[in-house]
Amino acid sequence: GFTRSFSSSNSLNAIKTVTVIGGGLMGSGIAQISAQAGQNVTIVDLNSETLQKALKSIENNLTRVAKKVHKDDVAKIDSFVKDSLARIKTSIKIEDGVNSDLIIEAVVEQLDVKQQLFNKLDELAPQHTILTSNTSSIPIKAIGSGIKRKDRLGGLHFFNPVPVMRLIEVIKGDDMSEETHQTLMEWGKSVGKTCITCKDRPGFVVNRLLGPYSAEALRMYERGDASMEDIDIGMKLGAGYPMGPFELCDYTGLDTNKHVMSVLYEMTKEEVFRPVALLDKKVAEGKLGVKSGEGFYKYK
Ligand code: CAA
Ligand code: NAD
Repeated sequence: GFTRSFSSSNSLNAIKTVTVIGGGLMGSGIAQISAQAGQNVTIVDLNSETLQKALKSIENNLTRVAKKVHKDDVAKIDSFVKDSLARIKTSIKIEDGVNSDLIIEAVVEQLDVKQQLFNKLDELAPQHTILTSNTSSIPIKAIGSGIKRKDRLGGLHFFNPVPVMRLIEVIKGDDMSEETHQTLMEWGKSVGKTCITCKDRPGFVVNRLLGPYSAEALRMYERGDASMEDIDIGMKLGAGYPMGPFELCDYTGLDTNKHVMSVLYEMTKEEVFRPVALLDKKVAEGKLGVKSGEGFYKYK
């Protein structure tokens, strides 16, 4: 009720330390914006090489941000990057990451991996720690099915590239307390994002709408109604999208798109999410988009 959400606004500053589990594409972006906003961050990944790569890409992106803010002031650019980086610790041991106010999981999109992780986090993290997932498509309820603190379970869904995209979808787990919800909304704002709230439903808001859009674009091309290039130009110039559907699919990864679509199909059984032959073929050929050098288009 009202009293709870009021009193919670005092405890919001409680989030001072964040752990990001998974230092890949999304995890490194989430760690960066958190550190940039003054939070102490721990990144945990299975792989120490990934952690080194994450720190390098964070440093590059921080420099990009600093140059924008501080123009030609080399000293200020330098200290912005150094101070932000100094707030980031990395580890390959989960035990080093559990003592945080907020944990954001951004590991591979596999239910069993996420479930095991959440069970372990629930066991090891202090009582007050909020557990969240950045999943694109898996129900939060399923990820947290084995944990006790269901009032402190939810989703924080970021968008790629994290430092640029201004949205966070705050997924309100079915049993999430109003206090946890408020804390997450405030935290999102404190790291410079706009937050929207969505229930724990298939695809949340953005992927539930982007899924059918991408699928229809693929089918339109399969039918031969228009070329890939023309469909992309159409949506950019006719609807004001920054990328057309094929460019976006290459950018997010064909494997990721296929996976999100199949999870949405399993959950909703809606025709629009049925597997698309063209996408399956490309993924089978290893054409995953920008990251593999070729998807619908070729990249050098
Ligand atoms: N990290 C940090 N900054 C970056 C960046 C990165 N990876 N990529 C681009 N930028 C910055 C640039 O420095 C530039 O900044 P300024 O304009 O302030 O100088 C700005 O972003 C624009 O970049 P570019 O000029 O290089 O390129 P662009 O104008 O073509 O924009 C884009 C690139 C932001 C990616 C834009 O094309 C875009 O918004 N595309 C759509 C992305 C999208 O829809 N993402 C969501 C995918 S769905 C998802 O993520 C959810 C899921 O669960 C799968
Ligand atoms: P990624 O493959 O770049 O990174 C995943 C990282 O997790 C890897 O570095 C891997 O070593 C690590 N990892 C795997 N299992 C682990 C474990 N048990 N403990 C610690 N680390 C582990 O993937 P990504 O694109 O960053 O996606 C991560 C999550 O974010 C997924 O759930 C994905 O659905 C979601 N997401 C992705 C996008 C996108 O556009 N790529 C957008 C929004 C959300």
